[in-house]
Amino acid sequence: EVEAPVTIVIFGVTGDLAGRMLMPALAALYAGGNLPKNFAVVGASRTDLNDDSFRERMKQAIETHGSLSPELWEKLAPRLTYRQVHYDDPASFSMLAEYLDGLCESGNLGGNRVFYLAVPPTAYEDIAVNLAKAGLAEETKGYSRLVIEKPFGRDLATAQVLEQALHTRFSEHQIFRIDHYLAKETVQNILMLRFANAIFEPVWNRRYVDYVSIMAAESIGVEHRASYYDHFGVLRDMFQNHMMQLLALCAIEPPSLFEAELVRDEKTKVFRALRPFNEHDLRENLVLGQYASGVAGGERAPAYLDEEGVPGDSTTPTFAAMKVYVDNWRWQGVPFYMVSGKRLPAKRTEIAVQFKPVPYSMFREIFGDHIKANRLTLRIQPDEQVSLTFQAKAPGPMCLRSVTMNFNYYQGYEGPSLSAYAKVFLDCMLGDQTLFWRQDGVELCWKFLAPMLGETDPDRLFLYKAGSWGPQEAGKFLKAHGLTS
Ligand code: BG6
Repeated sequence: EVEAPVTIVIFGVTGDLAGRMLMPALAALYAGGNLPKNFAVVGASRTDLNDDSFRERMKQAIETHGSLSPELWEKLAPRLTYRQVHYDDPASFSMLAEYLDGLCESGNLGGNRVFYLAVPPTAYEDIAVNLAKAGLAEETKGYSRLVIEKPFGRDLATAQVLEQALHTRFSEHQIFRIDHYLAKETVQNILMLRFANAIFEPVWNRRYVDYVSIMAAESIGVEHRASYYDHFGVLRDMFQNHMMQLLALCAIEPPSLFEAELVRDEKTKVFRALRPFNEHDLRENLVLGQYASGVAGGERAPAYLDEEGVPGDSTTPTFAAMKVYVDNWRWQGVPFYMVSGKRLPAKRTEIAVQFKPVPYSMFREIFGDHIKANRLTLRIQPDEQVSLTFQAKAPGPMCLRSVTMNFNYYQGYEGPSLSAYAKVFLDCMLGDQTLFWRQDGVELCWKFLAPMLGETDPDRLFLYKAGSWGPQEAGKFLKAHGLTS
């Protein structure tokens, strides 16, 4: 329950993220009674708009990407106002500060503020500096929280530069670094499954686990984001953040309490334990790919190089598969296969824990030596579910078959569910950083990926047809997930 009044300022409010995700999330929170009685949303961007035209835009965005009844809109609209702000102009921020003070008094809003930076990362520093200059980073009248989205830099050095810029103005407890994967219901469920049950944890280690496979497949291509994506590619776009978090949640030790610092401490230990890639690993344990034309979702899909805004000679990878090890007692010798790519046949985010086969088969005379080993699959999206595959006798003559026990995440649940961004807003208002990145984790992951981030050698960038599971060279990684390219 959030009760404390708050003003939420969204920079870059006319952009894609705000329209597609943030405003619909706020509307849903409001509809569900999850926002405090006194709240205001101030949209800010460089565009010259007045309150009415701003509201009209937001109405359309919420209708298109969320849901909005006329009654809800009537109550929500007056809470939304707009200020034109030039991010590099301190005077603009002084005016914003004055405006916020006025709003506070007239709307009885108190001094709590969330500043959500839905802008390109190049604008983060300007905004943070100018917020601070205008006195808006101070927490004398209430909290002041800064929400930023990845990418947190492009590599270790740039992440540190960004960090210094933010940190001289805001303290760590004020900075909320979003990873929207952490706010996904089924991602949070990983820890519940592991640590709220007695039966999984005893076998969750090198003695019983053969390997772990983490896959985030997407059917979409680069869409209209080439100007960003081509500078980042899949390693920076998906691995440095979402994939690393999924890995950490699978691998961490149980924290003594489900509390932000304790959970994040454990994750940090995992990131520290990642075995660094050497030359051999770069050749053997990493496959990078880029999609060629093909058929995806029943339609012809262009090659990455033919997408609008992508330079014709780009070597940016859109697919990566890697095998990594976590060097500690629990995981020694257990490979973690990680695969993510765009223009694969389906949207599918999934973690599979493959257990070892039985040590000896007493059924060998009847079924031969091979008995399929157990597998626990956590489907993150879509069709959120947990399934356990095991062996059972088939009815009739002596015969073994593989069967699956399924738990559908939403089965038997009729209550409301929160989108990832709604959860982000809520936790930020509550000051709970559990689902947000801490800077040490960000830096350790950059450090781990560093050897893979150099200019991609065109001979080591394998093409795959759009609509296939990736390049043939990724065969062994895909096999871990039961797939072939
Ligand atoms: C984003 C990436 O962080 O995550 C996108 O920038 C990617 O490239 C997206 O498509 C995937 O998120 P989700 O929630 O659709 O799995």
